[in-house]
Amino acid sequence: MPEVLIDQAAGLRRLRAPRATKVVAVTGGKGGVGKTLAAVNLGAALAALGRSTMLLDADFGLANVDVLLGLKTRLNLEHVMAGQCALEDVIQTASSGLRVVPATSGSVNMATLSRAQHAGLIGAFSELLEPVDVLLVDTAAGLGDGVVTFSEAAQRVVVLVCDEPASLTDAYGLIKVLSRRQPGCRFEIVANRVESAAEGRELHEKLMRVCHRFLGITPAYLGYLPEDEFVRQAIRRQATVVEAFPSSPAARAFQRIARAIDAWDAPLHARGGVEFFMERLVRSNEACAAEVQ
Ligand SMILES: Nc1ncnc2c1ncn2[C@@H]1O[C@H](COP(=O)(O)OP(=O)(O)OP(=O)(O)O)[C@@H](O)[C@H]1O
Ligand SMILES: [Mg+2]
Repeated sequence: MPEVLIDQAAGLRRLRAPRATKVVAVTGGKGGVGKTLAAVNLGAALAALGRSTMLLDADFGLANVDVLLGLKTRLNLEHVMAGQCALEDVIQTASSGLRVVPATSGSVNMATLSRAQHAGLIGAFSELLEPVDVLLVDTAAGLGDGVVTFSEAAQRVVVLVCDEPASLTDAYGLIKVLSRRQPGCRFEIVANRVESAAEGRELHEKLMRVCHRFLGITPAYLGYLPEDEFVRQAIRRQATVVEAFPSSPAARAFQRIARAIDAWDAPLHARGGVEFFMERLVRSNEACAAEVQ
């Protein structure tokens, strides 16, 4: 077949095939370990690879994705659920092409939404005009505020960890809770603020040893992020380091991790869009609520 026809055929197949969305929760247990930084930079790096990428800011307490990206958000999911606007009106597109769904103001907690609100949320996401290849979910610190339900509904859970006892203990605590609730949950460790690749591997091994010994699981290693002054410079400019300083050590590390995420298999569901994630989220929420009762 001539090359041009092969290209056309591939294009048509892509158009017809339902695009399955990879959903990746970005967590860490402890506060300030670089979750939001990683979420916005991986989002920008995946967008640069040509992937349709969306970032859901699920940190309802200290939402700051918009601050890091210099976005001005006025509307959020609360307005969508109240029927005041469409999801497309809420989504902001960052300079990298990353689409951001801002968090609610904090007055609405996923765990307290009614069934009607849940249904509204799923419906809104099922009507998204553009398919999403990768949905990143930036979660809050700790184990509250929907962190568990968002992580459970994701296909993989990226766990940011720094070389300090509190970060290691909190990351372990998070992995313990999630692995008990959802055996088979896939954890991907990112060692942040390290000095070298070797230090990153050592940090992963430390965490892996305790997880293996006490939980019988071995979280995978996704990579490391070096401590980098360019990160702070980019934050001051309200830009991602990936865009502002693309050849800095941190940007290169984010690009490497984004390529690794890009190589992950897409989920195999027949209906694998973002609405499917939302359905899982609602189910996980209901299971949590039932446990509390
Ligand atoms: N690799 C790094 N190099 C330099 N600075 C870093 C690096 N990683 C994180 N930081 C610093 O740590 C700060 C906190 O990061 P970030 O806001 O992403 O953490 P977080 O885990 O999302 O926090 P929270 O739990 O409050 O949501 C950043 O603003 C940045 O100043
Ligand atoms: Mg954060």
